[in-house]
Amino acid sequence: MLPERRGGIVGSDLVKVSDHNIDHGLRTVRRNRRSGPRRLLFWLFSFAAIFSICIATLGFKMFFHGVEEHHSILSPAVVKNVSVESGTLDQPKKKLHRARFLPCKVELNDSVEALVEPKTFWNFVKFSLNYVVMENLQSHENAITPRFGGHQTLEEREQSFHAVNQTIHCGFVEGYEGYPSTGFDLDKEDKMYMGTCTVVVSSCIFGSSDFLRRPTSKMISEYSKKNVCFIMFVDKETLVKLSNEGSAPNEKGFIGLWRMVVVSNLPYDDMRKTGKVPKFLSHRLFPSARYSIWLDSKLKLHTDPMQLIEYFLWREKSEYAISNHYTRHCVWDEVQQNKRLNKYNHTAIDEQFMFYQSDGLHKFDPSDPNKPLPSYVPEGSFIVRAHTPMSNLFSCLWFNEVDRFTSRDQLSFGYTFLKLKKTNPDKPFVLHMFKDCERRAVTKLFHHRNP
Ligand SMILES: *[C@@H]1O[C@H](CO)[C@@H](O)[C@H](O)[C@H]1NC(C)=O
Ligand SMILES: *[C@@H]1O[C@H](CO)[C@@H](O)[C@H](O)[C@H]1NC(C)=O
Ligand SMILES: *[C@@H]1O[C@H](CO)[C@@H](O)[C@H](O)[C@H]1NC(C)=O
Ligand SMILES: *[C@@H]1O[C@H](CO)[C@@H](O)[C@H](O)[C@H]1NC(C)=O
Repeated sequence: MLPERRGGIVGSDLVKVSDHNIDHGLRTVRRNRRSGPRRLLFWLFSFAAIFSICIATLGFKMFFHGVEEHHSILSPAVVKNVSVESGTLDQPKKKLHRARFLPCKVELNDSVEALVEPKTFWNFVKFSLNYVVMENLQSHENAITPRFGGHQTLEEREQSFHAVNQTIHCGFVEGYEGYPSTGFDLDKEDKMYMGTCTVVVSSCIFGSSDFLRRPTSKMISEYSKKNVCFIMFVDKETLVKLSNEGSAPNEKGFIGLWRMVVVSNLPYDDMRKTGKVPKFLSHRLFPSARYSIWLDSKLKLHTDPMQLIEYFLWREKSEYAISNHYTRHCVWDEVQQNKRLNKYNHTAIDEQFMFYQSDGLHKFDPSDPNKPLPSYVPEGSFIVRAHTPMSNLFSCLWFNEVDRFTSRDQLSFGYTFLKLKKTNPDKPFVLHMFKDCERRAVTKLFHHRNP
């Protein structure tokens, strides 16, 4: 039931339509006050009725507008059955829930021009990472098909967590001589353009799974419009669909601020998994970039990217910033939620989760004053990072977990972070986990096209 309902609501466009209707209704009421008393009463009643219906539906629409993100309000202890869940939502919970997920105040530095990168900012752990370009598959007895993520062994995986000079798997593993590409192929010109970017904002839409949300232009400084690359990765299908809907790129390949970059030969059948390539591997896609900001397609950028880098990284002296989840902090809850909403093959989730438990993953303890993170579950739709060695290593490790196990990256975040920390006790990885309400303050949340 829940997925069907979600499917019926496209996004806040609908909410806006209802808003408009209410405005209109009010104006009409005012106009009709001038007619005779009986007609006035009749119209007043009619409009009162319509008005309450509007309010009721608006309330519901606003509520369901948030369902994709907020269904978690019902704790696992309360509801064991999804079909019950959607039928028992009542008024008080709704209010609680709406009050709970508002944006909070984010004090940005007002002048982008005045921002200066702190001199000591790049004082993070130094080492040198190289990436596996091609695997020697000849050494294997049986024929092995080259794949984008490669064939990392468990020993290689274990070694890859060490923050030392080394060569690790990090996607983009090519097939041997004569074998067709393993995927994520880009146009030469796009690659050249991407190679020039030093600060990047990127996002992706694969399989026409979403609408295109342009950054709020008036919030983006002239400086950033000139100096920041805004890259939207799409597949051919999505580009055609967007074009048919009236959003065609101009002759330079831009739709507004977004430069549309077509990816051909997608490396995974699972579009969500393919989406993790640009999400995690921005340091590979943009080899000259010092900073990158990732946005899921459901988010519209509503803040200048340089202000975001100052706020989330420079000010915090942090090399990687991601928000915590608005309700869940323990991976155990996240696993349960993923299964309850049938987000992924349950067996595959169990395999991943069992593996992590056998490798020492513990439950989140909110009362631990020395807890390494405010939460073990991220809301990973918005990430700000400096391309430092530790940050790049973490991105590769997290990507490799998604490649090996499920595409549900909330399941692997805490484990990957804790294992990286445990493996390198004397080499800090400065991750700033900020509040979800801050993410809501700097972006605007929409609904995915397809639930
Ligand atoms: C869930 O609901 C179905 C019917 O809708 C029922 O048959 C089943 O027993 C319920 N499961 C639980 C765990 O309550
Ligand atoms: C804004 O940033 C500049 C340079 O980075 C700094 O000197 C100034 O104190 C900041 N202002 C505020 C209000 O944070
Ligand atoms: C690691 O690599 C860097 C640069 O590539 C080099 O300067 C450094 O000496 C290397 N460290 C070790 C321990 O090999
Ligand atoms: C679910 O995952 C398991 C283990 O990864 C696999 O064997 C099984 O075929 C998958 N089921 C479906 C329906 O994809």
